[in-house]
Amino acid sequence: MHVFIEDVSKCEGKDVTIKGWLYNKRSSGSVRFILVRDGTGIIQSVISKNEAQKELFGTADRITQESSLILTGTVKKDERAPGGYEIIAKKLQIIQEAREYPITPKEHSVEHLMPLRHLWLRSKQQNAIMRVRHELIKSLRDFFDDRGFICADCPILTPASVEGTTTLFEVDYYDQKAYLSQSGQLYNEATAAALGKVYCFGPTFRAEKSKTRRHLTEFWMLEPEVAYIDLDGIMELAEDMTVYAIERVLKNRKKELAVLERNLKALEKVTKPFPRITYKEAVTIIQKQDAEFAEGDDFGAPHETIISESFDKPVFVHHYPASIKAFYMKRDAEDDTLSLSVDMIGPEGIGELIGGGQREDDYETLLQHIKKHKLDEGTYQWYLDLRKYGTFPHGGFGLGLERTVAWICGIKHLRETIPFPRMLDRVYP
Ligand code: 4AD
Ligand code: MG
Repeated sequence: MHVFIEDVSKCEGKDVTIKGWLYNKRSSGSVRFILVRDGTGIIQSVISKNEAQKELFGTADRITQESSLILTGTVKKDERAPGGYEIIAKKLQIIQEAREYPITPKEHSVEHLMPLRHLWLRSKQQNAIMRVRHELIKSLRDFFDDRGFICADCPILTPASVEGTTTLFEVDYYDQKAYLSQSGQLYNEATAAALGKVYCFGPTFRAEKSKTRRHLTEFWMLEPEVAYIDLDGIMELAEDMTVYAIERVLKNRKKELAVLERNLKALEKVTKPFPRITYKEAVTIIQKQDAEFAEGDDFGAPHETIISESFDKPVFVHHYPASIKAFYMKRDAEDDTLSLSVDMIGPEGIGELIGGGQREDDYETLLQHIKKHKLDEGTYQWYLDLRKYGTFPHGGFGLGLERTVAWICGIKHLRETIPFPRMLDRVYP
């Protein structure tokens, strides 16, 4: 009977067949230990040298790392085996012998591993990261689905910019110019008017010129948008979502977090409420460590790090100067130099995880902002229509999936948080 390795513990004493690849092997005298992986786990199989098993022993001796194989044997409980179970082999068939697999069990540099990303994904750590990523996606979707949000996805090919024109990827679209979407937000605003509360989840693109550990050129964003929500409501939603997702990952992905040697205490601190500070208060915190930082400037990575390290759970920074935020941000009624914007900065130095806010809902004001930002009015006609036909207060945010995965997994660089990262210097493999 074919079973996946993750289910082997349910088959104690039974004969099972495992279909996978050779992860590693070691020998001790006349015994061979082979470690087999099938994507769902790794299991050890023991093969001893004796007359009856001559052929089997020969195959175990010959098999090379990452050769594909089919193994049949009896499941035995053994505390000493990794995972607590092992398979007493009866039959071992090599499907294809892999020669000179380029990632040996020793440590390799990232420079060696990145071009081999298609193979690197088979490693234990990368497997754990992808499983955490999956759990996070599923928990985020469940969070919104359970609250009556409708998933209404947004286009990837778009005629206009959302987050500034400097990071647009241009595409030839027949006789027109189109751009890869930087965010689904503007379309979310339309579907929010149609459906009340919505989210979209998909790849987004930024032609980032910077080569930092926090930037990918293609990354996934989960973006909720809600009709008749205000800035406090947006923060509450982001807070509830984050707490829910972290709890789910902690509950369901213990094994993976252990593989990654993640400090769980840090994640267990992520409980309600998260601190909420204004941009101005954040500036005071930054200036204590960096006297050069001027109020009114946008935060760079080092400034985000200072905020990030000042709190042991995510912190909301709200009311940024309107001048450093996008054209669609609604201004504060009491001080129109400030925007009703909010970022959620994650702890442990991870930096910004979420960006969002309340949207400008007045037709004339929005039109002025579009003009001031030198954006092409024509391509925003449909967006302006939303303010013409039953305008409504609304807002939402975008959660950067890879940054959140990096935080949860405790890894510094985003390149390991997505199966095939796209960066300034990388589109292969
Ligand atoms: O702060 P951003 O630019 O916000 C928006 O795009 C809004 N339109 C979203 C909305 O309100 N619906 O991006 C949101 C998040 C950031 O907080 C960050 O986590 C992530 O997306 N992000 C990136 N992640 C990886 N690589 C990049 N180059 C990223 N740029 C932003
Ligand atoms: Mg942002």
